[in-house]
Amino acid sequence: MSESIAVGSGKGGVGKTSVVAGVSTCLAAMGYRVLAVDADIGLRNLDIVLGLSDMTALDFGDVLRGNATLERAVVYNNTTENLCLLNAPFSLEESYDAGFGKMIESAKELFDYCIIDCAAGLGRSLRMATSAADRVLIVTTLDKTSLRDSALAVELAVNLGAPKVEMIVNRVRPRITAKAKSPNVDDAIDIVRAQLIGVVPEDDRVIISANREIPIITQASDGAALVYYNIARRIIGQQVPLMKIK
Ligand SMILES: Nc1ncnc2c1ncn2[C@@H]1O[C@H](COP(=O)(O)OP(=O)(O)OP(=O)(O)O)[C@@H](O)[C@H]1O
Ligand SMILES: [Mg+2]
Repeated sequence: MSESIAVGSGKGGVGKTSVVAGVSTCLAAMGYRVLAVDADIGLRNLDIVLGLSDMTALDFGDVLRGNATLERAVVYNNTTENLCLLNAPFSLEESYDAGFGKMIESAKELFDYCIIDCAAGLGRSLRMATSAADRVLIVTTLDKTSLRDSALAVELAVNLGAPKVEMIVNRVRPRITAKAKSPNVDDAIDIVRAQLIGVVPEDDRVIISANREIPIITQASDGAALVYYNIARRIIGQQVPLMKIK
């Protein structure tokens, strides 16, 4: 059965797009048909991180307005055949938001996983994506500012009726948390109140691969790349112990 997954956050810049790109490429490499959907209206960038920029002028606004079919709007990938991208529009009238869920339902007939990259915050994008999602992943860092906003994002997703809400802790730097200089992962669970599905270390290769427009899993098999792979395995239902970050 297909699954739709919204990836959101409270605070911005915490790593949602990196997680969507990493986990989508892992699921595709495992043989699943994956549609990565950019839902950051006006500020899309998932295309760059996936290495699929400038491949189409179409986006999901065209689908919702009835100007293009989903199959036409989707970007197909030459390197990873079963990973496709649906871009976000630069602008979209809010009256079209109601159609987003229906569009994702149709996408689920074509793909095993639809992974939706939200804009930061508790606004339109998270609400639209959550209403279309079987599962919501809230990405947070261990900064106090991010944790408080993540707790609000989890609360919103639960209140909107998301069937499952989980958390990814990103950019973990043990040298800082070990000396109690920042909250640790246990504190994050207490504050955010969501089940943990991944703890991603700070890893320069996330930044470097995004700037090179090359998926990180083609460059590395440890660090953040390994955690993205483990998150993908948990998504498909495998029991994978959390990795200790050194
Ligand atoms: N684990 C990591 N280690 C190092 N850098 C990271 C990691 N995860 C993300 N980054 C970097 O952090 C920055 C923000 O990441 P990203 O764009 O994925 O965040 P975002 O939550 O999608 O941001 P926005 O809220 O603007 O959409 C990027 O430069 C990215 O390369
Ligand atoms: Mg983003």
